[in-house]
Amino acid sequence: MRKKFVAGNWKMHGNLATNDDLLQSVRAGVAGLAVEVAVCTPYPYLDQARKVLEGSNVAWGAQDVSEHVQGAYTGEVSAMMLGDFGCRYVIVGHSERRSYYGDTDAVVAAKFEAAMKAGLIPIFCVGETLDEREKNVTADVVTRQLDAVIARCGIASLAKAVVAYEPVWAIGTGRTASPEQAQEVHALIRDRVAREDAGVAAGLQILYGGSMKPGNAKELMAQTDIDGGLIGGAALVAADFIAICAAA
Ligand code: 13P
Repeated sequence: MRKKFVAGNWKMHGNLATNDDLLQSVRAGVAGLAVEVAVCTPYPYLDQARKVLEGSNVAWGAQDVSEHVQGAYTGEVSAMMLGDFGCRYVIVGHSERRSYYGDTDAVVAAKFEAAMKAGLIPIFCVGETLDEREKNVTADVVTRQLDAVIARCGIASLAKAVVAYEPVWAIGTGRTASPEQAQEVHALIRDRVAREDAGVAAGLQILYGGSMKPGNAKELMAQTDIDGGLIGGAALVAADFIAICAAA
């Protein structure tokens, strides 16, 4: 039986004062819930997250990572550095990285590998744009994104990773995929993994992301292959994030 997992992606929001409130509230609000919880903060606030969350049932992580181990890569942050700050998770392949910062499937696979090698758990995002959905190529796109990681890191690597299906058209738009639409793609992801390794597929946590809110979380997470959520906007409001964790 897979455990439910709810991860917050704060994106580029917050400051020391607002984060403190949010972290303290989340820590207290999810204590005792039988669900895995994490928050992915901007890099400068990882130490703050560690200080507030250490010893709680909330893990923390980053939103991106360099594909390089170390060296002359100005502005980049390595997986080892994230490990130094106690990160358990790191998001790789978020659609905002893919579309605004040129993270190709190959770069995403390299970042996934770098995260794994440093002992972090990648939260590996896949998902189609609106244009791709309308052209009926969702399955092709998601399979291509998955296959890039499987080819580089091997199927066994997914035993120590989390996949997040985030349809780009549902991110920050208030337009959620219906439970049926999301379930269809989640099943496709699990089937693709099962073709390589049924055991890995059965244990793989597949999160849904894209306008998940307290009002739709329960129905989405009730689907057979939806094992939790990757939450953007609602992760910035403590009561909403806690309500989603409770729904899980
Ligand atoms: P929203 O929940 O704001 O749609 O963002 C989803 C997301 O991109 C999480 O990574």
